[in-house]
Amino acid sequence: MRSTGNNLKITISNPMVSYNDTGPEEAPVIIFIHGFPLNKSMWDKQADYFKENYRVITYDIRGHGSSDAGSDIFLIEIFVNDLFGLMDKLELDKVFLCGLSMGGYIALKAIEKHPHRFEALILCDTQCTDDTSEAKENRMKTIENIKENGPHQFAEESLKNLFAVESFSTKKREIAAVREMIMNTNQQSLCNTLHALAERKETCSKLQGINVPVLIMVGIEDKITPPAAARVMHEKIPNSILAIIEHAGHLTNMENPVEFNNQLEKFLHPLAKNHSAYVLLPEIES
Ligand code: MLT
Repeated sequence: MRSTGNNLKITISNPMVSYNDTGPEEAPVIIFIHGFPLNKSMWDKQADYFKENYRVITYDIRGHGSSDAGSDIFLIEIFVNDLFGLMDKLELDKVFLCGLSMGGYIALKAIEKHPHRFEALILCDTQCTDDTSEAKENRMKTIENIKENGPHQFAEESLKNLFAVESFSTKKREIAAVREMIMNTNQQSLCNTLHALAERKETCSKLQGINVPVLIMVGIEDKITPPAAARVMHEKIPNSILAIIEHAGHLTNMENPVEFNNQLEKFLHPLAKNHSAYVLLPEIES
């Protein structure tokens, strides 16, 4: 039987995964995958809005939020297996999948592995390339720095890159929430995930083969995965739409949730409207 609510626990192979599952039982399912080094609470504004009409699932990637780290080495492929493990345990055959940044890396690898499990893909502030040697080197330096000095400096540097300049005056609550998410992430998991990000494989060469509708969203001021990276994916994915989100850096869904939710609903509506449990959500005003 389905359990609903927040901070539910499920065991997938060795790690315990913490997840939220809300919305009507029979509704179309959307799974949201968070970025690094955040957790499922970054999707709270999406869960609140979409749970009216969708079964909304958010979860903590292993080692993040309240999920166990498990004993495997961290790799994007392991995170992908965890996603399928969660879908299998919850008996979800086919879903809409939305990933932001690292969540997008996982989503792109997941559709490469089992394309028939997804009805549509939403790629937010992400990219299809692997790390350059300079980026890998920076990740290794960051690991050393976290090991030597703890996560404080890393958290402050990350915030500068994650948010648009204007968000530092308009989104103070969100910035404080993200700082807390980073500081609450286990230090070993931070380092292990940085390693997994550095080791990730490119997915650009597989994009042409994606044959479900894809929405690509990116914050106009995203410094980590800028609009140019989104355009590269848009050009390669046959049935894709690109939306550049104003007033946002890397965390579009937190920095401009109104525009993010409207774009997502506009995209999902034609795909979900034939579902029995679905009624059109009202457009929200900024
Ligand atoms: C993320 O937001 O998930 C990370 O910034 C991704 C990355 O560093 O490549």
